[in-house]
Amino acid sequence: MKRVKNISEARLLLRQIRKDNRSVGFVPTMGNLHQGHISLLGKAKQENDVCIVSIFVNPTQFGAGEDFKKYPRTLDDDIKKLSEAGADIIFVPEIEEIYTSTTNVFVDEEQKNKHLCGAFRPGHFNGVLTIVLKLFNIFNPDRAYFGMKDYQQYVLIRDMVNSLNLGTEIIPYPIVREKDGLAMSSRNAYLTMEQRSRALSINRSLKKIKTAFDNGIRSVQELKGLALKELQEQNIYVQYVEILNDTSLNSVKIAGDSDLVAIAAFCDQVRLIDNLIL
Ligand code: PAJ
Repeated sequence: MKRVKNISEARLLLRQIRKDNRSVGFVPTMGNLHQGHISLLGKAKQENDVCIVSIFVNPTQFGAGEDFKKYPRTLDDDIKKLSEAGADIIFVPEIEEIYTSTTNVFVDEEQKNKHLCGAFRPGHFNGVLTIVLKLFNIFNPDRAYFGMKDYQQYVLIRDMVNSLNLGTEIIPYPIVREKDGLAMSSRNAYLTMEQRSRALSINRSLKKIKTAFDNGIRSVQELKGLALKELQEQNIYVQYVEILNDTSLNSVKIAGDSDLVAIAAFCDQVRLIDNLIL
């Protein structure tokens, strides 16, 4: 496994890979890797000759008062996991390598940003799209892998690729969960045992909606009510429970097959998200 810090070095490596006609799979991450990340790499390995993983805690996607400074950074551990999982190249740049004093062009998405997390985290997805575009321009991967845990992020990246005619295929990957149902997340590290057990109500409430939907209930108001009750009982502060079209991200009044059910909620200070497709 080769560790690369500089863009110029990355480009040099890529030139050789392209010369050899080898396909490139790419998994962007912010590190503090768990089985969710490693599963994305596993899928990338199945489908590509060379797999690249980036680790970069991207400052432009964190808002004021968010956890950029305290975001868990566990590089040594991450390198070990990636080496064991068979990554070929890891890209771990310093901030100055990515954002310089002359960086003045950023991606701005103006529609789907208004929904879900975009509405509560102004600028977040523009920061995500900007870093993903930068990374795509460095590696020009054949395929890039994104978890459906961050469903809106996946949709926006797919839209960016379509809108800007990028040559990378975007591959979604299902949410990887702990045995008890909690969606794996780097932010789970912030939870105490007591908070963690209350946080389980997030996935439980999604499942309640799914069961009710499978039993024929279609009223979004009624379905949302089930989740809100479950979360309230566990003292979870709900930012949103939404049922939306999985492509347009427009909310619906009557739930239908393949609609997205998405939740963002605070377990005390810790913000968690989860979703499922009906
Ligand atoms: P990060 O949160 O590190 O996640 C990296 C990738 O892993 C994303 O595609 C995310 O959706 C996926 N992922 C995280 N938890 C997962 C889980 N439990 N199951 C399946 N996939 C999971 O998302 C980011 O970083 C950043 O926004 C990034 C795209 C790297 C841009 O900075």
